[in-house]
Amino acid sequence: MSPSIQKKFKNPRAKHGFQGRTCSIAAVGSYVPAKELTNQDLEKLVDTTDDWITSRTGIKARRIAAEDEFTSDMAAKAALRAMVKGGVKPEEIDLIIVATITPDMPFPSTACWVQQKIGAHRAAAFDIEAACSGFIFALEIGQQFIMSRTYDTILVIGAEKLSSIINWKDRNTCVLFGDGAGAAILRHRPAAHGLLTACMGADGRKADLLSMPGGGSRCPATIDSVSNGLHFLRMDGKETFKNAVNAMYTAAQEALRRCEINISQIACIIPHQANRRIIDAVGERLGVQPEQVFVNLDKYGNTSAASVAIALDEAVEQERIKQGDLVLLVVFGAGLTWGAAVIEW
Ligand code: UT7
Repeated sequence: MSPSIQKKFKNPRAKHGFQGRTCSIAAVGSYVPAKELTNQDLEKLVDTTDDWITSRTGIKARRIAAEDEFTSDMAAKAALRAMVKGGVKPEEIDLIIVATITPDMPFPSTACWVQQKIGAHRAAAFDIEAACSGFIFALEIGQQFIMSRTYDTILVIGAEKLSSIINWKDRNTCVLFGDGAGAAILRHRPAAHGLLTACMGADGRKADLLSMPGGGSRCPATIDSVSNGLHFLRMDGKETFKNAVNAMYTAAQEALRRCEINISQIACIIPHQANRRIIDAVGERLGVQPEQVFVNLDKYGNTSAASVAIALDEAVEQERIKQGDLVLLVVFGAGLTWGAAVIEW
């Protein structure tokens, strides 16, 4: 990035007394399962068409984990790829945060399983749950530990096996989601701005719009809960869509405002990959150029907490993001939850 552009944004962290300490994404990695489920495959499962799915969502295919492949397996593979790229050894990791709505099991945390699988035995480990917004929430939590000098190296992962909570007879939802994982390694890196800001939001009054009612303390698993389909993901698609557009637009504006930059200074926008029409509507309101926006939902569908993490890794691999670029992540999910982050790469 040229020095003239560098002077045109500020690090909002500085005013909170974090001078001299920055939190950078040192490396990213991702993993998607080998098995691809195309729209044509879905035509054989439910009353749908490739044309409907493509025109209403932009999705052409999604990846489905093997029966014996769990969220922690995908998370560990994404983490190991990030660690190789960043030259980070397992023993250097201080903390593992996994964002997921499809943990291996209610407890222990998926992060503890990941710790075991990657051999990061010195690390503390816990999960967070903010649905599709989880990766940005986890980044923000991780960076707080870096800025406060509590930890130096943090592994943040978004990972999902959504195929395990999908009703494969419900055409309203089964065409939308896929499995996968993305990981980022956070580190203090002198002379870099790193994660400039992250805003997060939630509105629990709309918790019913997108949920999985069964399996928790409110509705433990029973024969009835299973036969009534309460252990499947449910969504009011239309209302979720409207809320997604408004919340993602507002979160992105807030993140830009905090850094005193405008949208044209962002080299790459990585939105939550739920629906092409949502991405286009948010982009239109923000006034972005199509080439600024990274989209890979045609290949993977909506992978919830893994969505922006996988997209970020692919954008870096494809050199859509280069050192010094400003990157905007913007997410939305069940809760309702939303968020946006600005990163100087
Ligand atoms: O990651 C969390 C955030 N998630 C989201 O943001 C998802 C937000 N919602 C959406 O992306 C969209 O609302 C959907 C893609 C889920 C649905 O698109 P829509 O344009 O809102 O369609 P709709 O739900 O209004 O359904 C229109 C019609 C209905 O038929 P009738 O009632 O008009 O006869 C549906 O039954 O399309 C029908 N339909 C389908 N038809 C063929 C719904 N799903 C399908 C399908 N194939 N898979």
